[in-house]
Amino acid sequence: MGVGQKMMKKPDRQEPVQSESESNQSHRRSDWAESTHDAVTRDLLAEDTRYFMHQSVSTPCLSVVTKAEGAYIEDAKGRRYLDFHGNNVHHIGYGHSKLKAAITRQMDTLPFAPRRFACQPALSLAKKLADIAPGDLAKVLFTTGGSDAVEVALKIARAATGRYKTISFWDAFHGAGFGAVSIGGEQMFRSHITGPLLPGTEHIAPFACYRCPYGYPDRDGKPQLELCKMTCARFVRYVLEKEGDVAAVIAEPLRAVPYIPPPG
Ligand SMILES: Cc1ncc(COP(=O)(O)O)c(C=O)c1O
Repeated sequence: MGVGQKMMKKPDRQEPVQSESESNQSHRRSDWAESTHDAVTRDLLAEDTRYFMHQSVSTPCLSVVTKAEGAYIEDAKGRRYLDFHGNNVHHIGYGHSKLKAAITRQMDTLPFAPRRFACQPALSLAKKLADIAPGDLAKVLFTTGGSDAVEVALKIARAATGRYKTISFWDAFHGAGFGAVSIGGEQMFRSHITGPLLPGTEHIAPFACYRCPYGYPDRDGKPQLELCKMTCARFVRYVLEKEGDVAAVIAEPLRAVPYIPPPG
């Protein structure tokens, strides 16, 4: 190998720690797949790998899903699985009859509305959101997803304050876009090949009782939640005061990864 080739060699890099999704690499998991997947399932899984790019934390797929109903998903052999995950957005259950009827009605009457035109169904939803949003939050902007919504919020915070710095939390997930991973706190999305992220995105350790980031030991077998949550809040205040020009503090309304912390 010549000198030029040596210089182009990629540096060795540490693989990110798998913190969620399919992390079971045991022989029991492969034995399970071997004994439960039929030929149809195996073919579909192979095609999935063939045609889709690898998707961090989601692929290779666990199995094949053919039906989703209520709280259950069903595989190609008709086995039902109770879905404890649901991506936090399927609380009414899969395929709810009222939702299906509303979608059908809408597709039959007005399947698309350019934003240059006002329309009643969109206005009804905006009004509802304004009614139930806390405080004086009464203006709505629909985006295509969570990551997009978070990045629009970052821009609004910059425009409203004339500042750009943010405070957010390690372990948080705000989406997979560049702005969203910059304020997110998961190594898998923000480190190694991801490269430079948004400037001014400061992170604080969350309060969490499993391996408390602030180092408080359990007392009488119970986590000292009062201590660690107040330490976390003080850290937020400390960084706000030290920086003096933070545009926004951003946190998930309900943390879900790597685990749901106790209320506090
Ligand atoms: C708290 C939170 N914010 C943002 C997102 C990103 O949403 P999307 O996948 O629609 O971009 C998620 C997705 O799971 C989320 O849980």
